[in-house]
Amino acid sequence: MTGYMAPLEGITTYIYRAAYHHHFRPMDKYFTPFISPAQKRPLRTRETRDVCPENNEGLPVIPQILTNDVALFLDTCRELEALGYTEVNLNIGCPSGTVTARGKGAGFLKDPEELDRFLEQICQGSSLRISVKTRLGWADPEEFYELLPVLNRYPLTEVILHPRVRQEYYRGKPHREAFAEALKESVHPLFYNGNLFSTRDITEIFGQFPETAGVMLGRGLIADPSLWERYSQTEAEKAATEVSPSTISSEEKLKDRIRSFHDEIYEAYRRDLSGDAPVIHKMKELWFYMVQLFSRDPKVEKALRKVQHRDEYERWAGQLFRQNDLDFSGFVPPAGWQEKGSK
Ligand SMILES: Cc1cc2nc3c(=O)[nH]c(=O)nc-3n(C[C@H](O)[C@H](O)[C@H](O)COP(=O)(O)O)c2cc1C
Repeated sequence: MTGYMAPLEGITTYIYRAAYHHHFRPMDKYFTPFISPAQKRPLRTRETRDVCPENNEGLPVIPQILTNDVALFLDTCRELEALGYTEVNLNIGCPSGTVTARGKGAGFLKDPEELDRFLEQICQGSSLRISVKTRLGWADPEEFYELLPVLNRYPLTEVILHPRVRQEYYRGKPHREAFAEALKESVHPLFYNGNLFSTRDITEIFGQFPETAGVMLGRGLIADPSLWERYSQTEAEKAATEVSPSTISSEEKLKDRIRSFHDEIYEAYRRDLSGDAPVIHKMKELWFYMVQLFSRDPKVEKALRKVQHRDEYERWAGQLFRQNDLDFSGFVPPAGWQEKGSK
């Protein structure tokens, strides 16, 4: 079973990825949040820090690129190759209005011919392997029948499919029936991404689609960093293979590990950023997802929203870890989130 960590801008930074890799069952690949290259300087300082080898030692990291400019894509590839990368991922699924208005991300899905030309040129021009992360189309899942032949024409390493269309952002349920069709037609290994929030969801996907190359986990994994590990353990137990006792964690031990994982991220942001405010902002972004693992009481989240200073934050987090049992029932996107989290 292959599992990838999805890119989440602002959250799955090199600091987050390293802490995750250190504390939980490693993922098979970690995709960086998109790099949106600019003329003259493909990688900005923040992006260079996110991909530089010193910050990613020992992790299978795939940098993701978001652009519709062939020259910029190839310049970025050259910089990434110089840093030692052999593979990149092209983002053609980002639904954000500012991105799609410029024909990037899911903007490509409105114009398969343009995508065809783009893929032809980048596949010819780059010596790096290229994979694609996409949605089904712009407005109608049926559009995938036009898109898939385009993807099939190029030597992509793999395709990660979030089976929604752009216009849905994150609303409703992913179109699993469309994923089944895509699996039949794709010449590339196809990965499933979208709304895998509990171990049961992951089991369902592998059960329903045994030919899938694997899954990519996003919000579900951020909400519960033990998700992939717990899923893998359950599968190992089902297969009655030996699971060494050290890999089976009691809930209490798991809570301690989540605490150490949290502390590692918090300390790293404190070293990396200056002043309390940006550190607390980063931690709040993470807790937006992870809080549900500890408490579904809206008052707890409300209290966090008010936190401004380091000592208040540490008090809030300490209490949360002390007072709550873990709740593995799975992430539930808060009401109204679909528009806000529209990346
Ligand atoms: C806050 C946020 C930031 C995201 N940033 C990126 C990104 O940089 N690149 C990308 O391909 N997808 C990005 N996504 C989409 C996720 O990678 C993933 O496809 C999406 O959340 C659906 O999977 P999930 O239901 O498992 O979360 C982002 C999603 C969210 C919520």
